[in-house]
Amino acid sequence: MDAFECIATKRDVREFSLQNISAEIKSKILEAARLTGSGLNTQHWRFVVIEEKNYLKKLAEDSTSGGWVSGANFAVIVLTNPRHKFHMIDAGRVVQDMQLAAWNYGVASCLFTGVQDKKLRSDFGIPKDLNPTIIVGFGFSAKQISGKRKNRMPLDELVYYEKYGNPKEA
Ligand SMILES: Cc1cc2nc3c(=O)[nH]c(=O)nc-3n(C[C@H](O)[C@H](O)[C@H](O)COP(=O)(O)O)c2cc1C
Repeated sequence: MDAFECIATKRDVREFSLQNISAEIKSKILEAARLTGSGLNTQHWRFVVIEEKNYLKKLAEDSTSGGWVSGANFAVIVLTNPRHKFHMIDAGRVVQDMQLAAWNYGVASCLFTGVQDKKLRSDFGIPKDLNPTIIVGFGFSAKQISGKRKNRMPLDELVYYEKYGNPKEA
């Protein structure tokens, strides 16, 4: 898929079908994570892949805003090191790359950030020096993804030229 098309059509999907995701696609998604650039190339991130149903259920129970992850085919807990002030930027980039790599193969996904920190750390053995910054769940969408336009602000409300507030010259 063309990179722009991939960005333009990707939605965050929270209802997944039971269709399996091949090992090849899973490894491409993880390769996309590995290949993502991090601040100062520190690569401080670590990824915990959750595939077993009972662990996906536990992940959903430990979340405060991602209960839907119990229905995902698999999920990835993205751990980053808060010692690096840019660690959340790195987390956002790596998740977006994984989501776009997945969508290129028709695999949908969504992310969440709300977790019960103590429970999640204990259930998944997360070390003290790393933060569970983002969790992303993957699966084929249960519903046809609509081609409707995304609910996004128009460019002229978002983009200025030369100085903040300047619209594009007519
Ligand atoms: C930083 C960030 C945090 C998010 N946290 C959650 C979350 O906790 N739970 C959730 O279900 N979706 C979460 N989302 C997904 C957003 O709700 C979604 O990206 C947005 O509604 C646009 O969806 P669309 O691309 O399908 O239009 C998060 C997205 C981002 C970028």
